[in-house]
Amino acid sequence: MRIDILTVLPQLLESPFSASIMQRAQDKGHVEIHVHNIRDYSTDKHKNVDDYQYGGGAGMVLSIEPIAAVIEKLISERSYDDIIYMTPDGKVLEQSDCNTLSLSKNLMILCGHYKGVDERIREHYITKEISIGSYVLSGGELAAAVVVDAVVRLIPGVLNDETSALTDSFQDNLLSPPVYTRPPEFKGWKVPEILLSGNLPAIEKWREEQALQRTQDRRPDLLD
Ligand code: ADE
Repeated sequence: MRIDILTVLPQLLESPFSASIMQRAQDKGHVEIHVHNIRDYSTDKHKNVDDYQYGGGAGMVLSIEPIAAVIEKLISERSYDDIIYMTPDGKVLEQSDCNTLSLSKNLMILCGHYKGVDERIREHYITKEISIGSYVLSGGELAAAVVVDAVVRLIPGVLNDETSALTDSFQDNLLSPPVYTRPPEFKGWKVPEILLSGNLPAIEKWREEQALQRTQDRRPDLLD
């Protein structure tokens, strides 16, 4: 998979992909992540990328020209499965969206800033608008990093068996059961006996019951 991220703050995207699973996914050739600085495409003599909004009001708007220039350059080079805009008024991201996106060959992600981008970018280039939750971030970069992480870990071969995505919370609309490691007792707090029993079918059954109970208690909406 290839992912192109368009931003006015590329520094914000330096560390999220340079450790652990995301770094390994790139090293193993499962994903190429390219971050593009929208400012490099500004033809303004001061390299401005934003302007006052028509009609007045507080807050700057990202201008159409430099963003259109990056998008057009990229779409002239390859075809994109989706051109995504990160925005708090988009569809709230769920595991099923990540599963779908993980089947893509080329994805482009545009990060908004300030008051957002000129609406004509959304009307004419964007194919999906994604929010990572009902709160407002300072920009779309951290949200884009969340989407990339959630999607890349689903590409076959990125995770090994131990970290398999199939047992993740949400993958079957259930939260994950509780997990424990050594020691078996700490300050008198004991690991559930069943997990030490070596009885694999019984452990599996216990985990299923715990997953169901946890989902009923914490996220009953997932069971609807
Ligand atoms: N940009 C600002 N807030 C956001 C959010 N909650 N999700 C996606 N992009 C955003």
